[in-house]
Amino acid sequence: MGVYSGKLIDVRPRSVICHCGRGRKVEDKRGCKMFKVRPFKDGDETHMEEIAPESFMTLGLARLAIDKGLPRDKVRESYRREARGYAEGVKRGEKGMAIFVAEEEGKAVGYIVVGVDQRSAEFWGFTWGSIISLAIAPPHWGKGIATRLVAEGLKWLKAQGVKYAQVGTDQNNIAAIRAYENNGFRVVYSEVTLSQFLK
Ligand SMILES: CC(C)(COP(=O)(O)OP(=O)(O)OC[C@H]1O[C@@H](n2cnc3c(N)ncnc32)[C@H](O)[C@@H]1OP(=O)(O)O)[C@@H](O)C(=O)NCCC(=O)NCCS
Repeated sequence: MGVYSGKLIDVRPRSVICHCGRGRKVEDKRGCKMFKVRPFKDGDETHMEEIAPESFMTLGLARLAIDKGLPRDKVRESYRREARGYAEGVKRGEKGMAIFVAEEEGKAVGYIVVGVDQRSAEFWGFTWGSIISLAIAPPHWGKGIATRLVAEGLKWLKAQGVKYAQVGTDQNNIAAIRAYENNGFRVVYSEVTLSQFLK
């Protein structure tokens, strides 16, 4: 696998390329339905718990999904739990955290989790914020949903006084990197993770 060099190779199946959410040409033969973006509401957690394992496992680029040495059922379950944890945090009214959801035909098909680092300003003199998680259900990839959710997340972070936003993703996750770049992010750093089972 190559390192992201800023050059995109379009690996999407043509049937899922659809840009109607951003006023571009509709190429999806099945017809492209409009989505709307709104804040998290009760009941979304059920969809989030489906979207997380489905999207991360299908793309197969995230930290746990890519590590074939780890049991698939546990990896899947960990993505589900992670999504549930975010939803529970927002339901509890956790400060400095928000979820926005993309909805199509009354059902959540993607979500973004954003957070403010409440203590960052004490040290830096300006507030840091981050995109904590982003996931779109695979049948809805390529419609511009991630790009739109990132815009919404950033709007919220700005409204909270955030001046410096960051997000981490796999260097081969071109679609995610593009969704972030579409919203002004630029790559500053990449890291590798090494692991082994000890005998
Ligand atoms: C990554 C992910 C969020 C992208 O969602 P999406 O709604 O399909 O993204 P968008 O439609 O907004 O597309 C973003 C950009 O990537 C491009 N893109 C999408 N899929 C692509 C692919 N497979 N190969 C190359 N480019 C791709 C789009 O053309 C668009 O670029 P453009 O605006 O320059 O045309 C989605 O694939 C996903 O949920 N993956 C699993 C979870 C994940 O990886 N989350 C990010 C972790 S931080």
